[in-house]
Amino acid sequence: MSLAIVILAAGEGTRFKSDLPKVLHPLAGAPIVTYPLAIAAELHAKKTVLVVGPNGRKLLQPSLNGHPSSIVWATQHRPLGTAHAVLSAMSALRGFHGQVLILAGDVPLMRGETLKTFVTAVGASHAPGGVLTVLQPNPQGYGRIVRDLDDTVRAIVEERDADEETRAIREINTGVFCCDAQWLFRTLKKVKSQNAQREFYLTDIAAMATAEGRGLLPVCAKDPEEFMGINTRIQLADAEAIMRRRIVETWMLGGVTFHDPRTAYVDRAVQIGRDTTIGPHVSLRGQTVIGQACHIDAGVVIRESRIGHHVTIKPYSVIDEAQIGAACEIGPFARLRPATRLDAEVRVGNFVETKKVWLKKGVKANHLTYLGDATIGARTNVGCGTITCNYDGKKKYETIIGEGVFIGSDTQLVAPVRIGKGAITGAGSVITENVPAGALAIARGRQVNKRQKR
Ligand code: UD1
Ligand code: CA
Repeated sequence: MSLAIVILAAGEGTRFKSDLPKVLHPLAGAPIVTYPLAIAAELHAKKTVLVVGPNGRKLLQPSLNGHPSSIVWATQHRPLGTAHAVLSAMSALRGFHGQVLILAGDVPLMRGETLKTFVTAVGASHAPGGVLTVLQPNPQGYGRIVRDLDDTVRAIVEERDADEETRAIREINTGVFCCDAQWLFRTLKKVKSQNAQREFYLTDIAAMATAEGRGLLPVCAKDPEEFMGINTRIQLADAEAIMRRRIVETWMLGGVTFHDPRTAYVDRAVQIGRDTTIGPHVSLRGQTVIGQACHIDAGVVIRESRIGHHVTIKPYSVIDEAQIGAACEIGPFARLRPATRLDAEVRVGNFVETKKVWLKKGVKANHLTYLGDATIGARTNVGCGTITCNYDGKKKYETIIGEGVFIGSDTQLVAPVRIGKGAITGAGSVITENVPAGALAIARGRQVNKRQKR
């Protein structure tokens, strides 16, 4: 049977108190709404309709570009309730026959497997649709599933409309429904807004199906954690903790050691090679790729970078949009800024900052140095306190250093400038002119020793 998925994300998210739409708030580095979208891709939905508010498409689209599932946009002009939101997807699904799976944009922890099982169960039944439920230890805030004596669903009652007895029910509506498309839209048109919030509730279709004599099939999922709705930033933090733990566990099963899994922050898109070890309080962000058998020590932050195999990154180094070759040694306290490229076996030590540089194989820059807009040849040694003076207040200029060069400590390289292969600069030099290959350049005041008057 063919499947369409409708994701509801037009609610105002007022409980978030934010200028950013709720579903764009990041969860483990990806907007909340990308999680249900990923499930839609996993379930091979024929169509995925994302229901958003009036400005939703303009706000959401830039963050969702490049998402694997192709999204059909539907606008709900006013947030009149979840039933009204699903109805807003009707024209996007014109001519579609089959099952419609409804997901909430603010329930990101669901697993694809759970939903597959649910969709299959509903498809195999004679019911016009089904509702996915779960037992929540703390059901507060959720719609409650009211069952008849024969266990069919009599109604779903929202917390605000529930009496004390109903509130005591722990079986809740996860917000996930799967219905025959024709039946769904026909029924939704009849939903009324006689409830505490004066909204058109999707949950009313449960009682309506029962009244027609063919109640919704209730399918009770096992793990309440999957269906945590994110309505407040407290819930966002709780969901983040769960998602982080899941991601880290996946990598541990994939052969990565975490010294303290509780304090590792690994975004969803990150890749880590086997036999790599990750120290405490490490943050791996964005589309970072880490090779095999690397050591990433305490407090390291890496964002949008590629790290080769056998790389050691010592504590408190910060690496952003950089490419690091095999067997490099970085840090402690190094800062590699965007467009840093290190070939294999490069060493960048403490208090070294790099930006837009290419350090070829075996370069060493071990202490207290700034390298920006520079290319540095293989095996060159950059002494302590070296500065590429790349900026004259208006423009940036390049420093090009050849192979096997020895840059003496405290050299200032006033760009644009070139240092030839095998050259040496004397300690404390201010190099303003090119240095030919093999030369020794000394550019500093000559020492004068004067006798002291006593
Ligand atoms: C909803 C369910 C509740 C369920 C819970 C599960 C209803 C009436 N209530 O409550 O039974 O236990 O989810 O998390 O369905 N939305 C729109 N347009 C609207 C209103 C909402 O698109 O007009 C979207 C929201 O953006 C959100 C989803 O629908 O993604 C759910 O809406 P929300 O207001 O969060 O409902 P809950 O109070 O969580
Ligand atoms: Ca919600």
